[in-house]
This record gives sequence, C-alpha cells and structure tokens, in this order.
Amino acid sequence: MKGVVLAGGLGTRLFPLTKVTNKHLLPVYDKPMVHYPIQCLVNAGISDILIVTGGNSAGDFLQLLGNGADFGLKDFNYTYQQGEGGIADALKLAEHFADGEKIVVVLGDNIIEGNIKKAVDDFRAQEKGGKILLKEVSDPERFGVATVDSAGKVAKIVEKPKDPESNLAVIGIYMYDSTVFEFINGLEPSGRGELEITDVNNLYINKGTMTSEVLEGWWTDAGTFESLLRASSMVAKGGANKLELQG
Ligand code: G1P
Repeated sequence: MKGVVLAGGLGTRLFPLTKVTNKHLLPVYDKPMVHYPIQCLVNAGISDILIVTGGNSAGDFLQLLGNGADFGLKDFNYTYQQGEGGIADALKLAEHFADGEKIVVVLGDNIIEGNIKKAVDDFRAQEKGGKILLKEVSDPERFGVATVDSAGKVAKIVEKPKDPESNLAVIGIYMYDSTVFEFINGLEPSGRGELEITDVNNLYINKGTMTSEVLEGWWTDAGTFESLLRASSMVAKGGANKLELQG
C-alpha cells in the first residue's frame, strides 16, 4: 500500500500566518506540521509516500524533507498542485504514483495521537472499496459528519452541516482502492468551488464498498487558529504518533 500526504492549498483560515508560507510548514509544538502526517504513514508501515504540495513555499518542502532520511525512508515522491481545487483535486495528482495500488491519504494538517496500523492492515485485507476513520467531536459542524445506520454502517456523510445528525467527524485519513480516480474524474465542484473529498466518500458509500472504524486516541486538525493552538498543546502534553525523528 502507498501513502499520499496532501499539503497544498492556500491556508486562508490562518491568514496572515500563511501569507508568505505554506500552512503545512508552520510549527506544531516542536516540528513543522507536515512531519506528523508523514510519521503517521511511516508508523503504519507505509514507506512509499507522495507529498502533494502547492501554494506558497512549495519548494521549501524539498529542503525540509529531502529524501526522507529523517523518517528512515529511502526517498520521497513529490508533486505540485496548481491552483486551489480542493482535496479531491489534489488527490487526482496521485493517480500515476498509485499505479493501480491501494492508497492511504492523509491531510497534511491532521494530527493523531495513536497508530492507524490496524486500520491499514484491515483495509489491506478488504477486497475492494474504501475505509474512513471516525472520531466523536464537540464541534461536528466544522467537518464532514457521518450518519451511521442501525447496523453500524456509515449511511451518508454531510460536509460541514449546519445541523449535524451526529457528532462523528470523518477525519482526514482516507483509504481507497484505484476506483477513487474514476470517482474524482466524475466530480463537479461544490458551492465553495472545490472538488470535495466528501463527495468521493459518498460515492463509495452508495456503492456499498465503504467501511469505517472509530479512531482511538486524540485527533485534531490544525487549519484554524484555535485548532493550531490545540494541536501544539496536545502534542506538547501527549506526544503524537510517537514521533521519533532519526538524525
Ligand atoms: C476537510 C474535509 C472534511 C474533514 C476535514 C478533516 O475539511 O472536507 O470532510 O472532516 O478535512 O480535517 P477542511 O478542513 O479542508 O475544510
């Protein structure tokens, strides 16, 4: 299985912190933000990783991450997202890299305490489709929100609902088979002008091939002032991904 870290976008919710630099290069406690999603993949046993960047300071990722030696990797793959087309648009750029294999996609501003290895292993054994990870939150209206049916299956996801039907957020770690690229190619931009990852996930749900697991340990995004502060304080208090950089 291959890994994809999405680290593009303009990070407008963090303006002016992101006026001259990329959101994913900002500090979260003692590391640049993008280190955490990379370490999350490495901890799950994934060593073939594509970094999709874009927006400001895209070249700085090369200087920061190099060939991945700090993470015990042999190399990294990089690509560049032109413009600001949303998460699913950025993921499109991974089709050539994925080359028909299953992928684990991590949003560059998502940080978790634990390890997704079990979920990744479960997905490896899953014949086809996708897998999402859910987490109970107190502010579901900020996220994609899952409605789970009586059998415990995700019935639908609504992106940033005004009146959420549950408090189960869909976190920014997604596992997909190669169908994902067909789904993305059929998407229309949403009201905010982006290709939404929630639309991709709903296509899997409608096909009956989406599974889900509830994430253990804490999770936070870091794309707003409040969540960036929370991310730093959670990492400082509790560590994240057992982040042990080498060298
Ligand atoms: C994105 C997704 C949303 C998901 C969230 C997780 O939102 O659209 O479904 O719950 O990431 O961090 P964004 O923060 O890009 O608005």
